[in-house]
Amino acid sequence: MMSASSRMKRARRAWQRHGALGFCRLALRNLTLLLSRQGARHRYVNDPAFDRKYGVDTGGAVEIDEMTAPAWEKEGAVPYEPTPPEMFEFLLDRAEIADPGDLLFVDLGSGKGRTLILACLAGFRRAEGVELGEELHATAADNLDRLAKVGRRLNAVSIRGDARSYQFPREPTVCFLNNPFSADVLAGVVRNIERSLRDRPRDFTVIYYHSNHEEVFGGSSWERIDHGFWNDRSHHYAIYRSKIGRTADE
Ligand SMILES: C[S@@+](CC[C@H](N)C(=O)[O-])C[C@H]1O[C@@H](n2cnc3c(N)ncnc32)[C@H](O)[C@@H]1O
Repeated sequence: MMSASSRMKRARRAWQRHGALGFCRLALRNLTLLLSRQGARHRYVNDPAFDRKYGVDTGGAVEIDEMTAPAWEKEGAVPYEPTPPEMFEFLLDRAEIADPGDLLFVDLGSGKGRTLILACLAGFRRAEGVELGEELHATAADNLDRLAKVGRRLNAVSIRGDARSYQFPREPTVCFLNNPFSADVLAGVVRNIERSLRDRPRDFTVIYYHSNHEEVFGGSSWERIDHGFWNDRSHHYAIYRSKIGRTADE
């Protein structure tokens, strides 16, 4: 994000270049763009369609200071907002997963558990989510209970905890990240994944939605198999496959 002083410098340069009237036109255009982007974000975060369809509660945004969790766990955390179901479907498609029935799905920063439900409906063998906020985790658990009560028992679990201390099961895995934390926290999490993969090499794919810190996957352990945008430029993503333990001709 741009700092206040760089913003001021940029505004001053624009004023000098375009004059007062040109500057005002430019500012108005940027404001309209910002409001329409925020409007689009507000619409997808609060879209009630998924919750109505399944009788669950996964919509809305939740700020970090509204969550109950130890202060040190909140370091670098990004507030809750759910993944649009269409985006999830698109990302699975881009990841070219041959048979989800053989795979564990893990969402680090799983919030109210929407992706856990979507992953099970998409045919993953099992889904595990790790969520920092006690209330969000409780809502995720409640959502899974509600589905079980209407005959949709999913093989999914929400775990209240810090993604940094999550022990990955030694199984072929798709790990989902919807911009849950800062680059520093992500780097620690990726080091854990790499350690686990060196210990037991296996198929491991990371789907990184809102991929703000792609540089963390820059080392030799990861192959970026796809990246791009969905719908508009605010929905950016990258998909990585682990190279650890893979031979050159694989
Ligand atoms: C943008 S939301 C994504 C929610 C969900 N994955 C989805 O896509 O629907 C990011 C979530 O990560 C959680 N989070 C942030 N830091 C975390 C950490 N260190 N451990 C576990 N969860 C964390 C936040 O509380 C928030 O619910």
